[in-house]
Amino acid sequence: MTHKRLMDLDVKKKKVIVRVDFNVPLEKGRVRDDTRIRAALPTLEYLLQEEAALIILSHLGRPKGEVKTEMRLDPVAQRLSDLLQVEVLKSDQVRGPEVKEMVEKLKPGQVCMLENTRFDPGEEENSQELAEEWASLADVFVSDAFGTLHRAHASNAGLARFLPSGAGLLVEKELEALGSLRGANVERPFAAILGGAKVSDKLGVIEALLTRVDFMVLGGGMANTFLAAQGMEMGDSLVEEEQVGTAKQLMEKAKEAGKEIILPIDLVISPQTDKSDEKTVTDENVTPGWKAVDVGPRSIELFREKLQKAGTIFWNGPLGVFEVEEFARGTIEIARALSQSQAWTVIGGGDSVAAVEAAGVADKMGHICTGGGAALKYLEGKELPGLKALEVEG
Ligand code: 3PG
Repeated sequence: MTHKRLMDLDVKKKKVIVRVDFNVPLEKGRVRDDTRIRAALPTLEYLLQEEAALIILSHLGRPKGEVKTEMRLDPVAQRLSDLLQVEVLKSDQVRGPEVKEMVEKLKPGQVCMLENTRFDPGEEENSQELAEEWASLADVFVSDAFGTLHRAHASNAGLARFLPSGAGLLVEKELEALGSLRGANVERPFAAILGGAKVSDKLGVIEALLTRVDFMVLGGGMANTFLAAQGMEMGDSLVEEEQVGTAKQLMEKAKEAGKEIILPIDLVISPQTDKSDEKTVTDENVTPGWKAVDVGPRSIELFREKLQKAGTIFWNGPLGVFEVEEFARGTIEIARALSQSQAWTVIGGGDSVAAVEAAGVADKMGHICTGGGAALKYLEGKELPGLKALEVEG
């Protein structure tokens, strides 16, 4: 099975409804980080060159089917307009007669944006009726919201049922980069760095990646559960007790397969996770009242040394409590190590992207994913409903 692509579609002077992922951070009524908007520009610019009229759909945040003023898309439409240098008409409605009227008047080369798709409960319910209403506005559907391909919502999987549809250029770029990590020709040694709070959120991807990588570095809260599985006392650190057995099994499996799981050898600990009062402990149990908040300097050195030898590195998740500056050191140092490495580096969304940006090394990375959740599901080998909906025989 393959999926249809933008270039397979006849979009010349057509009305094209485009699903993008403009779920961007806002601050004081402005877009704080426009990476996701920039990432969609190649598709939008191509469509405008083809004199298509664009109807843009995106969600922002998780308003759960209700109108939330702070999640309106006006700042996003403004930023898009600045970047495209084209006026972007913005509707305050997700659907209905006002939207219909605006779209009917839309001429080739014009752009409009509807309101946050998740203001309508039908979006997350993948309502056929909502998808049909959106489809009735356009001739063609282009899906360029890589970050939401793992969701079966009306504005992606739903719409594809009712219009000639294809994947946009961003989706293609992401699938190519991540596909290279799933392929047989991946440059070895292939290393994965996984962090973040919970093992339970990433069990699937740890298991899937262990079959492909040569070694795996674990940090962040999830490493605590593995350290506990090795018999270490973790004090008040975040440990998922019910996952300790699974962590043990994963380490055994990795060992049998000749793969190394590399854990922190020292930890920064603090009585609190929201402000700094830290000390570093090496090869010691964490005493009650203290919790692990970052990896220590010896771990950073160890990780750096191991990663230097890698041919390919995939990274998802922070190695400490990244939102507190003092506990972000491990994560930032890993970002720096990656920027000095010769490896093909793929940054899998979320805080890891924020870390490479904070370290000023984003331009040194091989590929930065615009969707962490979708990237992990894809690497796990799970079906992405938004992509499946675009499939055609052949
Ligand atoms: C993301 O930020 O990863 C995507 O926009 C998807 O958002 P969601 O996790 O709220 O579906």
